Amino acid sequence: MKIYVENDYASMSRRAADIIAAEIKNNPNCVLGFATGSTPTGTYARLGELCKSGEISFKNVTTVNLDEYKGLSPDHPQSYRCFMNKNLFDLTDILPENTHLPNGLAEDSDAECKRYDKLIKDLGNTDLQLLGIGHNGHIGFNEPNDRFIPGTNVIDLTESTIQANSRFFESAQGVPTQAFTMGIGCIMSAKSILMIAEGKGKAQALYDALCGPVAPSCPASILQLHPNVTVIGDKEAFSLIIEKEPKLCI
Ligand code: GLP
Repeated sequence: MKIYVENDYASMSRRAADIIAAEIKNNPNCVLGFATGSTPTGTYARLGELCKSGEISFKNVTTVNLDEYKGLSPDHPQSYRCFMNKNLFDLTDILPENTHLPNGLAEDSDAECKRYDKLIKDLGNTDLQLLGIGHNGHIGFNEPNDRFIPGTNVIDLTESTIQANSRFFESAQGVPTQAFTMGIGCIMSAKSILMIAEGKGKAQALYDALCGPVAPSCPASILQLHPNVTVIGDKEAFSLIIEKEPKLCI
């Protein structure tokens, strides 16, 4: 596992974008797994700039997103489809038909989960999967659980995740209570994984993920078993690790 402790959000975002840009330059036909939330917006803005300046092109890139709220249409302003269009896709030359998210409006959830798993498999799995991390250690929307769920599934969001994500909605009541999420097996099938984390609020989750036991009570801890993981965070996010396991950060 490669670890980068950055001074601030801007340098974290720049390093993450540079790694993704290098992947695109090495393999212009790559399949990228993307995440939503506040953490990746700086990375996406930088990728947009690199695309605008002609340094990279998304013309042959395919993307699959981790998750989507169940019940939100793609044009709902808080849908993850809308988020991705606004924060990344509209800033690049990517072909809309090459961008994929679960369909939040799918009536048959089981069929939708199967469709999404098949899509990822047919694409040959992701070359690079970008991840944020929830305060409770969730990745995608895989909440703490008593087992790791391999495939795409519909998850009941925990109260803490609903509260955390309510900042994007008018109130916590407006946050959907369920979401489609890529499963832990799909995430682990990525050839490489890049996790980013910002702020003191993520320090405990990051510590549990990287230094705690591999357990479904902290879904991100599974990353300890992946052969090609890079974690980039600011000093605050790494503060507990720096305090308790400083050797990990060398
Ligand atoms: C959401 C997303 C995750 C994301 C997490 C943290 O629940 N489903 O993919 O990593 O929030 O978000 P933020 O970066 O806003 O802290």
